Amino acid sequence: MAAPLGTQATALVTGASGFVGGHLVARLVREGMPVVALDSAAPRTPFPAGVHDLRIDIRDHDAVARALAEARPAVVYHLAAQASVAISMREPELDIATNVLGTVQLARAAVAAGVQRFVFVSTGGALCGEPATLPVTEHTPVAPESVYGASKLAAERYLALLLGGSGTALAVVRPGNIYGPAQNPHGEAGVVAIFAARMLAGEPVTIFGDGSQQRDYVYVDDVVDAIVRAATAPPDTCLVGTGHGTSTRAIFDVLARLTGYARPPELAAERPGDIQRIWLDSTRARERWGWQPRTTLEDGLARTVDWFRAHAAP
Ligand SMILES: NC(=O)c1ccc[n+]([C@@H]2O[C@H](COP(=O)([O-])OP(=O)(O)OC[C@H]3O[C@@H](n4cnc5c(N)ncnc54)[C@H](O)[C@@H]3O)[C@@H](O)[C@H]2O)c1
Repeated sequence: MAAPLGTQATALVTGASGFVGGHLVARLVREGMPVVALDSAAPRTPFPAGVHDLRIDIRDHDAVARALAEARPAVVYHLAAQASVAISMREPELDIATNVLGTVQLARAAVAAGVQRFVFVSTGGALCGEPATLPVTEHTPVAPESVYGASKLAAERYLALLLGGSGTALAVVRPGNIYGPAQNPHGEAGVVAIFAARMLAGEPVTIFGDGSQQRDYVYVDDVVDAIVRAATAPPDTCLVGTGHGTSTRAIFDVLARLTGYARPPELAAERPGDIQRIWLDSTRARERWGWQPRTTLEDGLARTVDWFRAHAAP
């Protein structure tokens, strides 16, 4: 039976059918929270029993307003997004309609529905462009180099304007590169999932650029922990990463070892909008939210490979 709508302790999760959203829903359900899952797509595996599953596009103003008015959640976790840098460069209108306008509509509906906390999952890796100094902090000047980064930044700014002075407090989570079990290996983002699935299937693996690009890879359970903390801790904007940069080539090598993959990577031209090096200082998340990463890269990659091995298509 689905959870009744209209309970004040309810959590509404947008993007619930996605990679991070699925993990967040599972965690909230484990903690006994009534959950409303909102997404334009169906989940790839069914939600746990009791989750109220809404098939809604956040670009649909009226449907979003109705859903919020009916659910009256205490917390909105906003994860629904066009989440690929590459797609954002090819289809900027789609990216902006989803990530900016969709977010604005959701925020206005949240205020009208008396939501207490709005947790926005932004990005830590796409706001600063190519940073002059590393690690980046919340004080690093913003200068996005992709439409995705620009739309996430715009969404942050509009949320601050629209929620400021309302009864709905805003918390912004800015994660690094999230990886872990159940990430979509068929998309254009999520190098760990793409590499792991292709290696296990014995297929060629492509690295865009020369493999020296570095990112801050943070395990999905750790990011979910930050997102959950952001709902109750003092509202703030916090970077969520490990503080370490890992090259694409190093990710390739560890995954090749874990999967027994013997072929070399195929190298292809860099993609527009991709940056060379970034890693994040999460001191503020530790001080404000009591958050720190718990999963080492080696453990996280091993768990991810185990999951893909167990869920490989027959
Ligand atoms: N995966 C990462 O490395 C990463 C890093 C930093 C930030 N983020 C952010 O975290 C959030 C979750 O990312 P993810 O990796 O789970 O992405 P994902 O693509 O797996 O999930 C996004 C979900 O949003 C849904 N969605 C897209 N457009 C929608 C619309 N118009 N209406 C309703 N639902 C819509 C999709 O159906 C999908 O289920 C996103 O906001 C993303 O920008 C992700």
